[in-house]
Amino acid sequence: MRALVTGGLGFIGSHLVDRLLADGWEVAVLDNLLTGRRSNLAHREGDRSLELVEGDVRDLPTLERCSKGCDAVFHLAAHALMRVSLNDHRADLEHNIVGTLNVLESMAANRVRDFVFASTSALYGEAKVVPTPETYSGVQTSLYGAAKLLGEGYASAFAEFSPLRVWAFRFGTVLGERCRRGAIWDFTHKLMNDPRRLEVLGDGRQSKDYLSVSDCVDGIMLGYQKGGERVNIFNLGLQEQTTVDRLADIVIEETGLPDVRKAYTGGARGWVGDNPVVYLSTERIRSLGWAPRVSPEDSIRATARWTLKEVGWKGR
Ligand SMILES: NC(=O)c1ccc[n+]([C@@H]2O[C@H](COP(=O)([O-])OP(=O)(O)OC[C@H]3O[C@@H](n4cnc5c(N)ncnc54)[C@H](O)[C@@H]3O)[C@@H](O)[C@H]2O)c1
Repeated sequence: MRALVTGGLGFIGSHLVDRLLADGWEVAVLDNLLTGRRSNLAHREGDRSLELVEGDVRDLPTLERCSKGCDAVFHLAAHALMRVSLNDHRADLEHNIVGTLNVLESMAANRVRDFVFASTSALYGEAKVVPTPETYSGVQTSLYGAAKLLGEGYASAFAEFSPLRVWAFRFGTVLGERCRRGAIWDFTHKLMNDPRRLEVLGDGRQSKDYLSVSDCVDGIMLGYQKGGERVNIFNLGLQEQTTVDRLADIVIEETGLPDVRKAYTGGARGWVGDNPVVYLSTERIRSLGWAPRVSPEDSIRATARWTLKEVGWKGR
């Protein structure tokens, strides 16, 4: 079996590549290094089952070359920089919508049937129903969420007029090694600059669903193997919520810093498009046998430890 993984040099993508190789797949990775890093797959150097292509999903001919001979495309490449999109309104359109359309067109041209898509819980906006089921439809609060929703829509429509089959996974916040974005990364850098004061965006009461990357990848692979519909849409998340405030406390504990004062910027949201409560219903994927194994506390701690090492934390 051969897979193309777009965005395979990114955080989740590189873990998915590890899993596919371990499962015996041949893997081609297409990544433009926007946020990805070659070092994320440096441990695979010399692996003859892995091919790395530096290129862009906005470039259809490159995709047509990369998806040739594949059984599945795992499409993770995305511009996921929500706050950048507030000023750059075309970034999501170009990377995430045109990019996804190109992936689908290249698959149609090469008769590749299986499309596995990294979607997001951001497409629920500020959900009025929690735990939020896959059937919920809300008002969009970010260009990122809107673009992912459209990506799912395009894929579903392609499945109407071509042999394509679709698996879309909507996850909240994923944590683990190689995660160089989000609250833990942000807090660690702030504490390096000022070990006595930690700015927390919002009121700290935002409550999230911190899923470990190993559980995320397990969910993707299990849903892909067992989801037998033409279009399969799954939430992936935990039933346990953690506040941003608690996450900040764990990061502070891991630094060993004795006297950190937290300073809140205030308001229910950290930034425009930050949905204060992310709590997904996961009955659908659980009914196929998936169950997360890592608690949010453990994945926050493990990610904080990795981050401190990664940034060369020297202690107090
Ligand atoms: N990390 C999370 O918590 C989370 C939550 C929900 C959904 N997702 C989705 O999961 C996927 C992976 O996220 P991640 O956290 O690993 O992010 P990431 O930024 O680490 O990975 C995205 C990868 O895509 C690459 N990329 C971006 N634009 C590209 C383009 N035009 N052409 C080729 N490559 C391109 C980047 O270089 C990077 O390697 C994304 O689609 C993201 O939207 C992530």
